[in-house]
Amino acid sequence: MSSATPKKTWSQRFESALHPAIAAFNASISFDIELLEYDLLGSEAHAKMLAKTGIITTAEAEQLTQGLAQIRQEYREGQFLPTIDDEDVHFAVEHRLIELVGDVGKKLHTARSRNDQVGTDIRLYLRAQIDTIREQLRVFQQALLDQAERHVDTVIPGYTHLQRAQPLSLAHHLLAYVEMAQRDWERLGDIRHRVNVSPLGCGALAGTPFPIDRAYSAELLRFEGVYRNSLDGVSDRDFAIEFTAAASLINVHLSRLAEEVILWASAEFGFVTLTDTCSTGSSIMPQKKNPDVPELVRGKTGRVFGHLQSLLVMMKGLPMAYNKDLQEDKEPLFDTVKTVQGCLQAMTILLQEGLEFQTDRLAQTVTTDFSNATDVADYLAAKGVPFREAYNLVGKVVRQCLASQKLLKDLSLEEWQALHPAFESDIYEAIAPQQVVAARNSYGGTGFEQVRMALSEAKKRLLVAE
Ligand code: ARG
Repeated sequence: MSSATPKKTWSQRFESALHPAIAAFNASISFDIELLEYDLLGSEAHAKMLAKTGIITTAEAEQLTQGLAQIRQEYREGQFLPTIDDEDVHFAVEHRLIELVGDVGKKLHTARSRNDQVGTDIRLYLRAQIDTIREQLRVFQQALLDQAERHVDTVIPGYTHLQRAQPLSLAHHLLAYVEMAQRDWERLGDIRHRVNVSPLGCGALAGTPFPIDRAYSAELLRFEGVYRNSLDGVSDRDFAIEFTAAASLINVHLSRLAEEVILWASAEFGFVTLTDTCSTGSSIMPQKKNPDVPELVRGKTGRVFGHLQSLLVMMKGLPMAYNKDLQEDKEPLFDTVKTVQGCLQAMTILLQEGLEFQTDRLAQTVTTDFSNATDVADYLAAKGVPFREAYNLVGKVVRQCLASQKLLKDLSLEEWQALHPAFESDIYEAIAPQQVVAARNSYGGTGFEQVRMALSEAKKRLLVAE
């Protein structure tokens, strides 16, 4: 900005300039420049509203909006370079506007305060970011569905307590994450309504004596409504906290998937290999291929939780109405947005091209364990043996098998019948992994038929706009 600009921001009440260190401490321009485009949108709507209500003339409003458009262009071309002396993005715009359009620029702040202005800016910013994240969630879901589609018939071990429990269709496992992402998408859609309310016209805290039309500026900005109470309007940050809580949940889900991929990629599991485009090497151990992407997603999740905590603590002791503490809402919010968007993108790419499921290894794994033990008990129960009795019997069989280094499928029919006369030759079929999975055909279960239904329902859901 030109050095001719009077950088003294406040009124004549102040005789001397701020201590330079205090000026730097007070300034938010280094980070709230992120709001520039939204500040311009808010200011354009405000100028139009001032003209509509006769507070300024139409010609003046036009000069203002032209000046604002010019600033937008300068910013996009990298020519708009505010300094610490501008303090924040709102003053930076006002200073430049006055340089560009002269004295009329000094009229823009009529019937407005930086308090309702900044509230407007962050809502417009967050609304746009929410829309982007919701689109990203859809792409993430699509990537999960594409993998699921390929792996309906791939059987993987299912775990509880990280102990082999019952085998699953890999598609069923992946569809669990599609459901989580669905809730995330819906949750953000719900929060968007509360983000999308206009505080513009609440003034510093109490409204304004000018005959403003808040509904009009809100409409220009595509807000769904206006804050009913001016004090609440300038000091509410519930929407930012709600968003950060929703972002925390998105990251919980991404981090759980990340953790599974990290486990699966280990030699101990060997369920996936990572492709070269999505894994990294070690500087010393030449044999290594590291799962840095899911590890970073898991690691970055902590900072999102931290931002939620920061915002909650920032708010809890604030008396009405605006307090400068609220300037501290921006960095946590911006970093939350950046982190969740980055994590979503990385996990989506990982699903699209980073994972190769080792189907041979998976098939071998599920035929060499006792994850079909429940099915032996179910087999007897279906033949009228009380389930608890069957369960105890199978426990005994597993113990004997372990002692003799056998699997259930290795027992001869005579051995089975010695254990219980209800066993017949169809026991072998009943405990084969594919059959074990297919049998769990209850709604929401892993049976292949259910999984195919769930897959096609999930695909349809993806086409729903709201
Ligand atoms: N930079 C300030 C913020 O981010 C703008 C609002 C300043 N308002 C005030 N009364 N000092 O919160």
